[in-house]
Amino acid sequence: MQMTHQTPRVRLDPRAAGELDADIVVVPAFERDGFADVPGLAQAAGGEALAAHDRGLFSGKLFESLMIGTQGAGWRAPRMVLVGAGAAASCTTDVLRRVAITGALAARQQRLRRVAVLVRPGTSVTAAEAAQAVAEGVTIANYDGASLKTADHDPVWLEEAVVAGAGGDAALPAAVERGVILGEATNQARALANEPGNRLTPRVFAERGAALAAAAGVGVEILDEHAIAELRMGLLLSIAQGSQEPPRLLVLRHEPAGAVSNITLGLIGKGITFDTGGISIKPAENMDKMKDDMSGGAAVIAAMTAIARLGAPVRCIGVVPMTENMPGGRAIKPGDILTSAEGKTVEVLNTDAEGRLILGDALWYARQLGVTHLVDLATLTGACVVALGKTTTGLFGTPSEWVEQIRLASDRAGDRSWPMPVFADYMEQLKSEIADMTNTGGRAAGAITGALFVKEFAGDLPWVHMDIAGTAWAEEPKPYQPKGATGVGVRTLVELALAAPSWSKLDFSEKS
Ligand code: BES
Ligand code: MN
Ligand code: ZN
Repeated sequence: MQMTHQTPRVRLDPRAAGELDADIVVVPAFERDGFADVPGLAQAAGGEALAAHDRGLFSGKLFESLMIGTQGAGWRAPRMVLVGAGAAASCTTDVLRRVAITGALAARQQRLRRVAVLVRPGTSVTAAEAAQAVAEGVTIANYDGASLKTADHDPVWLEEAVVAGAGGDAALPAAVERGVILGEATNQARALANEPGNRLTPRVFAERGAALAAAAGVGVEILDEHAIAELRMGLLLSIAQGSQEPPRLLVLRHEPAGAVSNITLGLIGKGITFDTGGISIKPAENMDKMKDDMSGGAAVIAAMTAIARLGAPVRCIGVVPMTENMPGGRAIKPGDILTSAEGKTVEVLNTDAEGRLILGDALWYARQLGVTHLVDLATLTGACVVALGKTTTGLFGTPSEWVEQIRLASDRAGDRSWPMPVFADYMEQLKSEIADMTNTGGRAAGAITGALFVKEFAGDLPWVHMDIAGTAWAEEPKPYQPKGATGVGVRTLVELALAAPSWSKLDFSEKS
């Protein structure tokens, strides 16, 4: 098998753009850009950069690009690529990260291995934020989604990436390192989520997740089917019983010295390695995509590695329930009543609503382990894709102050998300005649009733559910995002953990 991703050497270079020693310089280009702050650029581009706008070749709109061969003695790198960064005034870290990805992907397409990315002054972000975003971007660009091809595929990897033009701020080296670690973690999650269901079974997922986590210094424990049975996790076991593959529960622990007191962040990720729907089987069309139904679990694992490597000053416990959802001879059937580890009974109306079931037992277990704040990530509902589309993760939770912390973290991370209501009225839809609740609430408000089901297992803790059904997988390639797994949520969780010293002072006890 070929490699899925590699981490480039990322270094800061204080030299002027013309002096950079690279195969290609990536230049963020704004609308109506005169490049006045980049000495020598206009000459090196032989007039191309300035004339491009008039010729209709390049306008600086977001993420379009123009490759130019450079000329003259005043510019060392043989090529530059202008990457549209939109209006200078609205250039955020998000734009810079995507500009860096776009430029670095263009470099790899040209089989170039040494790239420099220019940070330009005049944007509203600090030099350290910009450097981090660029480091993230070049690392995220060093990912290859076709790693199982054995012929006609020879990807080029970036070996070196230079962050230029950022100045000499003392915070820069740490910012670059943070960016590289966040980029690597994003790629780890993408690699796991892209892996087909036959190769990434629950057992393999647990082993690989444990290996990644242990290598980063995270404490690791794998519960097998016997340990899971011992804990009476009836929801997880019931989904697993339709498959030949036994389930796993991966538990990850980050327990740093000097952690903020009285806080343990619980991160729970849905780990369905393949979702056929079970007896309520899905249509054949696009079912192949359901190999990504463990994206939430992958995000939790990858985030835990970054949290440990960055030494986030907060205790974190990751819990990832892992199983296939298959229609085997022992599979659960519509109408079956299941008993969760907590003792709650569930009437199964649709075996395809399996994610909420395995999350229920996992949230309960995280509470047994002493977490104080909960965040779960799951490719939970098609309804969330209908509501928010492919770019925005749905946020569901309580209290709203806690939801807001996750929203802010996702903003910093460049993972778009938006809050949705969790009014108790919706619980009507989950009423069962014979059990505590049903596992589906019909078509109306499908993403919300899915979230409310999960909420039943959050106890009284502050809890947020992130529905990443739309955002975990990119269907259409974009200049900054190839088709395939996106790694959504990884950087959000890391940002949330890094910000713990500030949110730990807030009171989230008033749960509705
Ligand atoms: N894994 C799916 C949700 C999903 C759908 C993710 C499309 C990504 C794209 C989940 O397990 C599921 O099947 N949900 C059902 C719930 C329904 C039966 C209440 C759905 O959304 O149809
Ligand atoms: Mn399903
Ligand atoms: Zn599913």
